[in-house]
Amino acid sequence: MKHKNITILGIESSCDETSAAVIKNGKILANIIATQKIHETFGGVVPELASRAHQINIVPAVKMALDKAKIPVNEIDAIAYTRGPGLMGALLVGASFAKAMALALQIPLIEVHHMQAHILAHFIEDDENKPKPTFPFLCLTVSGGHTQIVRVNDYLKMEIIGETIDDAAGEAFDKVAKLLNLPYPGGPWVDKLAQQGNPERFDFPHPQIKNFDFSFSGLKTSVLYFLQNETIKDPNFVEQNKADICASVQKTIIEILLSKLQKAAKKTGINTIALAGGVSANSGLRKQLKMLARKNKWNIFIPKFEYCTDNAAMIAITGYFKYLNNDFGAQHHAPLARYTF
Ligand code: KG4
Ligand code: ZN
Repeated sequence: MKHKNITILGIESSCDETSAAVIKNGKILANIIATQKIHETFGGVVPELASRAHQINIVPAVKMALDKAKIPVNEIDAIAYTRGPGLMGALLVGASFAKAMALALQIPLIEVHHMQAHILAHFIEDDENKPKPTFPFLCLTVSGGHTQIVRVNDYLKMEIIGETIDDAAGEAFDKVAKLLNLPYPGGPWVDKLAQQGNPERFDFPHPQIKNFDFSFSGLKTSVLYFLQNETIKDPNFVEQNKADICASVQKTIIEILLSKLQKAAKKTGINTIALAGGVSANSGLRKQLKMLARKNKWNIFIPKFEYCTDNAAMIAITGYFKYLNNDFGAQHHAPLARYTF
């Protein structure tokens, strides 16, 4: 199937990153990300403030992406935007902008599932020309809102074979970070401190959950009680043991994730394994996955850092595959805060 040049503008606004990207024939030309700093003050994303910041950032982000890509608006073939899942007010900003722009330019709209996009980020062509996963593969998708093991049969054919029944892995990192008085989002801070700590120092429980599902709320509670007890004995406990606590909690989260992934790989017989989502930026997880891959002879795919956390490049690449599949959206479709695939 030979196509003309296909240029997709991608827009992401599901949480606290306003992002716009341009992809031409699968190749990245620009990926602009405006991270909203305002939430740091509150120790978590404030939905109303996120919507307002998206409203302010979206026009400059799109303009910067088009300028950087050197693409005039009349060369865009379609606009892909995140339909969900995410914060409703935040999604509405991206969706309304994408709809208005598509209408003005008389070009198609493409609706993108945020979690599918995290996975398809592996197919973004950039300068490195890295090899791409081959189908079928298993993807461990770990973000602030989701934790899933997905069987990816083709670009747009995916099934969730396991997921969290409560908190997401990123949420566990962020909540533990909050207990340790670290800034938001806490994941990268825990990661950084863990590198100087002893992961064997403290023991935290592993949940017993069936099949390939996960649970992280028990871990958060056990860390909370542990810190409360130790602080009664020594008020300086947290400050003096932060690195060891981070290393021990991170080790537990990684063990929970990778033991389920290993079980899924064994059961499905699939040994092409990918990582996706914000938590895939975690240095410990990346290292442990590489070790496990050597042991199990897995062929693994770990995203570049800029494609781990939320970005519009992943939305644009998903839009590109949907364009090739003639899978277009509609002006009357509303965003979906909860959205399954
Ligand atoms: O995919 P993402 O940017 O947004 C969602 O779709 O949720 O993921 C954000 C999550 C946050 O919970 C953040 O703390 C976590 O990814 N994260 C990390 C690291 N970098 C980001 N967690 C652990 N280690 C990191 N280096
Ligand atoms: Zn995400």
